[in-house]
Amino acid sequence: MSEKKKPMLDVVMDLLVRRGFLVQTAEIYGNGLAGFYDFLPNGIQMRENIKKAWREFFVWSSIDPLIYEIEGAIVNPEEVFIASGHVSSFSDPLVSCSKCNAQLRADHLLEKVVGMKTEGLTTPQIQDAIKKHDVKCTECGGSLAPVEDFNLMLKTDVGPSKNSKRSYLRPETAQSIFCDFKRVFQTMRAQLPFGICQIGNSYRNEISPRQGLIRMRGFTQMEIEFFFDPDEPVHPDFDAVKETRINLITRETQAKEETADDIVEITIGEAMNKGVFPNNIQAYFVGKVFEFYQSIGIPYEALRFRHLLETETPFYSKGNFDLEIKLDMGWKEAVGIAYRTNHDLSTHAKNSGIKLEADVQKANQPLKKVVPHVVEPSFGVERALYSILEHAYRPAIEKGAAKKNDSDREWDWFQIQPHIAPFSAMVYPLMKKPELTKKAIELFKAIKAAGIPVFYDHAGQIGRRYARADEIGTPFCFTIDYQTNEDGTVTIRDRDTTKQIRVPLTDCVPVLQSLVRREKKFFDLGTPIK
Ligand code: GAP
Repeated sequence: MSEKKKPMLDVVMDLLVRRGFLVQTAEIYGNGLAGFYDFLPNGIQMRENIKKAWREFFVWSSIDPLIYEIEGAIVNPEEVFIASGHVSSFSDPLVSCSKCNAQLRADHLLEKVVGMKTEGLTTPQIQDAIKKHDVKCTECGGSLAPVEDFNLMLKTDVGPSKNSKRSYLRPETAQSIFCDFKRVFQTMRAQLPFGICQIGNSYRNEISPRQGLIRMRGFTQMEIEFFFDPDEPVHPDFDAVKETRINLITRETQAKEETADDIVEITIGEAMNKGVFPNNIQAYFVGKVFEFYQSIGIPYEALRFRHLLETETPFYSKGNFDLEIKLDMGWKEAVGIAYRTNHDLSTHAKNSGIKLEADVQKANQPLKKVVPHVVEPSFGVERALYSILEHAYRPAIEKGAAKKNDSDREWDWFQIQPHIAPFSAMVYPLMKKPELTKKAIELFKAIKAAGIPVFYDHAGQIGRRYARADEIGTPFCFTIDYQTNEDGTVTIRDRDTTKQIRVPLTDCVPVLQSLVRREKKFFDLGTPIK
């Protein structure tokens, strides 16, 4: 009988724990706290690299229009979330077992037991389906109580009890961007169109946190609110993405079950001409997001954008597109791009009594005041991190088996992009001897000073150190050996081929820079070692 294949989720999550990426929060107290993870040195560094890549791609490279970054507080007062609608309607359908008291997410239960798609169903529709299919508790077979709406925000009271203020941990970073809109607009002397972005933690009291980093209760978001004049819904850089090819699932194909997963390959320009997008700003971000995920290591064919059905789209949105990544467990949403119109600024203005408008001054025209419209690309960092690692995973071959490819090793390893791997380089002295360690430490410091993530390791045999580097996806290893003292060169080992070149010590930093930026090929940068 063939052995059942271990799900990739278990393989990857297990490696992440064993290799110093993360650990379940408060693990030493039994199961810890479900849905929360502590990030360890390798995990933090990789998460930082994803954030840096995102800032470079979306924020620092956007000069006109500018995108400004803010950092809001994680706790916000209730008023914010009353205005945003989270207090009244940020909920998931919850069903409880009358016999064993298990509490389950009702839509997930239907998907699991009946196999039906539940996207866009209302709570009463979910209740009807549970009744119709006579769905019972999956834990004990008991009857289920009526479905209720469970609010996902984590409450807290700020201040001493008599004067405490009802507050919430933010469920998205977006709301502080809307609250701070006026200040940013005035103090930065911004002009439409422009963006405000934020990277930070968000919290949701998920009913059943599961699938490792896919459904967490505390996670990191990277969000941009891109503000524009609704009379001029045009992104100045649209031409840069016109030829970008994407995989798209349209509303039309989703209308029929047999074509629901059919992908249309189309350029952003063609999709725009066909009227797929409400404006070219949303089209621009769809193209950019598709490019970004390829640049951080997700293959083209494992990416698709899904145009959400009308029933799944919030009433205030004029169109939502989700980027989905193909994983072993199925397609999972990694980014949502929503055209939120002026809904958020209008409701915050109404509830706070503060006007949230932008001045638009065009030559020879009177000053116009507008409540800007917004396109919002919203990214989850941990979902990106997990997806990259699942796609980068290279399993070990059997001990002693013949190698057929460069990727065959006796240890499992990660083929992560050089700028995303926790460390772009390792620096080793061949042995822990002062005549070698001195130069190795100097090289380590020089690489660090250039802003490249690097790790110094002098423990154990060199072969074992290379294996350890592979295990966390390190693309390049620099070794100072006795020849370094003779001719001033060092070896660089390439993770993907396991081959080595020799390079002058004085060139190591620029060589590494060009390897990380993928400007030059490995073997063009030094003398190959036979
Ligand atoms: N401001 C819009 C917003 O928050 P969302 O689709 O709820 O939209 C955006 O979240 C992204 O945040 C998702 O595409 C996903 O990558 C990430 N995300 C949301 N909930 C998450 C969770 N429970 N665990 C991990 N990541 C999550």
